[in-house]
Amino acid sequence: MSLLNDLSRIFGIAFEQAGLDPAFGAVVVSQRPDLGQFQCNGALPAAKIAGRPPREIAQDIVDRVQRDGRFGAVSLAGPGFINISLTDDFLAGELQLVADDPRLGVPEIPASRVLVDYGGPNVAKEMHVGHLRATIIGDSLKRIARFLGHDTLGDAHFGDWGTQMGMLIIEIARRDPELPFFDPDYVGAYPTLSLTLDDLEAMYPLVSARCAEDAEEAERARIATFELQQGRPGYRALWQQLHDISMAAHRRDFASLGVEFDLWNGESTVHDRIEPMIERLDRAGVVEESEGARVIGIDEPDDKGDMPPFLVAKSDGGFLYSTTDLATIEERVDDLRRQLLLYVVDARQSFHFEQVFRAARRGGIAPVDIGLEHIKFGTMNGPDGKPFQTRKGGVLKLRDLISMVTEAAQIRLSEADIAQDYPDDERAEIARKVGLAALKFGDLSNHRTSNYLFDLDRFASFEGKTGPYLQYSAVRIKSIMRNAEEAGLSRGSLVPAGFETERNLMLVLARLPEVIERAFELRAPNHIAEYAYDLATQFNRFYEECHILREEDPARQASWLTLVDLTLKELILLLDLLGIEVPDRM
Ligand code: ARG
Repeated sequence: MSLLNDLSRIFGIAFEQAGLDPAFGAVVVSQRPDLGQFQCNGALPAAKIAGRPPREIAQDIVDRVQRDGRFGAVSLAGPGFINISLTDDFLAGELQLVADDPRLGVPEIPASRVLVDYGGPNVAKEMHVGHLRATIIGDSLKRIARFLGHDTLGDAHFGDWGTQMGMLIIEIARRDPELPFFDPDYVGAYPTLSLTLDDLEAMYPLVSARCAEDAEEAERARIATFELQQGRPGYRALWQQLHDISMAAHRRDFASLGVEFDLWNGESTVHDRIEPMIERLDRAGVVEESEGARVIGIDEPDDKGDMPPFLVAKSDGGFLYSTTDLATIEERVDDLRRQLLLYVVDARQSFHFEQVFRAARRGGIAPVDIGLEHIKFGTMNGPDGKPFQTRKGGVLKLRDLISMVTEAAQIRLSEADIAQDYPDDERAEIARKVGLAALKFGDLSNHRTSNYLFDLDRFASFEGKTGPYLQYSAVRIKSIMRNAEEAGLSRGSLVPAGFETERNLMLVLARLPEVIERAFELRAPNHIAEYAYDLATQFNRFYEECHILREEDPARQASWLTLVDLTLKELILLLDLLGIEVPDRM
């Protein structure tokens, strides 16, 4: 059950009775709360189709709906808008259903099998802010999908199979050619190298720069990559170590963000299915030869720009990022039985995904009923309006970023005199949670496609539309509940609102289901962020006006406590869907 769905259904019936499509009955929250709580704008498009004046249709609908006692006021405005307000009785009844439901009114929809591909770190590279955005947005979408009832897997999709691997191999060989990894005749165990991610990270730009300048070096890296992919034992053994070193560091970073994955797969995971896949595509006549390489034509008649063929295998037989992405779709569809694949990746990879998805459709790897979506996002920018960097102009390491936000949280906590007398470890834990809330909410409160300014001062503030403000609101409501319980009060059935702030809070609380559904439909967690802020704001207004402990009518007092409790449950759920934890006390 959800309030807007209910209202839309009632208005839909009225449209139907008037001989019109019930879809015109869609009810939305009013843009003009002074005129009504909700509005239905379907009379205008209905009028075009029916060839009747919109006001006449709207009046007809108003007349039909007014016979329904649940509406306090239904009125016609402008060229044919319908403004709607509920009776307080009806509103209390609807909200009671939400309060009684462990899922807070959010229906469990028929589940699809979803996979979210996010994070996407690479071997030998620290995660940068692009990976951070992917991680934060992807984790939130996964949580939302899961809460709605979808069978959802999250995959870190590790970048571990491209030319960077060959580059690292030749670089390590250059530094220490005696190592047995490079001896093709070597039999026996391989030594364990004592390298860290920092070492690899220092190595990578050097060799990558050399490859850019020196064609012979680039050729060596290409051959090493090819031989690695073909299964040369020493290279595979070395690869495993490079992979594990990088993966351990990334896992630590993800854990410090509070993010988990179900699958820690990567580009290399699908290696063994690439040859058979290409053979199948070959037999199906999808693959063509082009200058020795194998390609799939993916242009379509109404393409505006140029759409070059999709490269499945290079002329030397080597595989690319595109190849592993195509084989990964096959794996996700055939083995993991996924119906919807969401790729949370930087908008700058749009063209790549457009190509991969087209190739997957052309090749029958993803039939049309399989959803393939690139969930693109913009950049997190520094004060110069360019993608965020360190003061020295380098890539900011995720670890340093987390230290930065934790420190900012610590400062804010002491400025606001919050949690100052708590034990050190609890205070540190609170600072960690507040820092992450600042970071995550700062990101998720923007629509994912927009570029935003990383403004730590603003993000970490306990005032305004911020993660820490919402966290603090939730903690405060927890303590209100504790105090009320200590005073011997208990929750009771909702009674019709008697105050404006109470009514407004009830209206906001009743919107939870559609907000969550919409956030998933649009793959846009910012709807949840926005709504959580609305909820906290309306709650604070209500709490200022309605003094629970001093209320003399016991029924109203018990009803208010139910509202407080419901606000807390919704707020905790919303923050959880954004990946934000609420401390017990602050
Ligand atoms: N590793 C890639 C990068 O750093 C992101 C991977 C995204 N996922 C994918 N299936 N291509 O850009």
